[in-house]
Amino acid sequence: MKYVVGNWKSNKNEMEIRDWFMEFSKLWRTRPVSAECTSILCPPDIYLSLCSKLIREYSLPLLLGAQNISPFGMGSYTGEVAASQVREYAQFVMVGHSERRNHFNEDASTIDAKVKLAKKADLRPILCIQGLDTPIPPEVSIVAYEPVKAIGTGKAEESSEAEAVAEGIRSKYRIEAFLYGGSVDENNVTSYMHEQMIDGVLVGGASLEPLKFWNLIQRSLNKS
Ligand code: PGA
Repeated sequence: MKYVVGNWKSNKNEMEIRDWFMEFSKLWRTRPVSAECTSILCPPDIYLSLCSKLIREYSLPLLLGAQNISPFGMGSYTGEVAASQVREYAQFVMVGHSERRNHFNEDASTIDAKVKLAKKADLRPILCIQGLDTPIPPEVSIVAYEPVKAIGTGKAEESSEAEAVAEGIRSKYRIEAFLYGGSVDENNVTSYMHEQMIDGVLVGGASLEPLKFWNLIQRSLNKS
């Protein structure tokens, strides 16, 4: 199974999201895609419900993920969204993105708590790691390797280097899927998909445009 995960970060308002879906569904209808690729969109939490409605309305084979969850359950935690609340709309959650580690001081114990809560709520965590040294809790089955210098810079890591990291991680941990992220676009996606140990990509900037995201999915499926 291949994965294409779109991370919208703190981008888009309601109108832009409606436009994105309208455009994306037009593209999708011109060439429907088999279930071979798990395509996951991670919008800001506040739009998860809208996106889930639009996915149903347009009958799109897209799944949803949150970009983060609370390290606590439901309760008196002002400003936080609990895993079980996210689960009403999403099937996945990203945990430990480097932007959260850097701007919100997330450490290994916070990340561990989030992974456990995700699993308890039946949300599949996609753990973002920055290299071979990032600890991976045993509950994690999908890992996204995102070298910090490649994120949003247009300087994607060579697929052979990412493959070497995939090999290192797979020799230490039993994971189901290894994704690469960091300046992936429609032009370089196939190089990652052709690697033996890489199952998919986590995409920021290029997921914001429906045509680019659609191309990414189409080209991911060209791996034979
Ligand atoms: P990018 O972001 O594709 O814009 O480099 C990737 C990410 O941060 O998940």
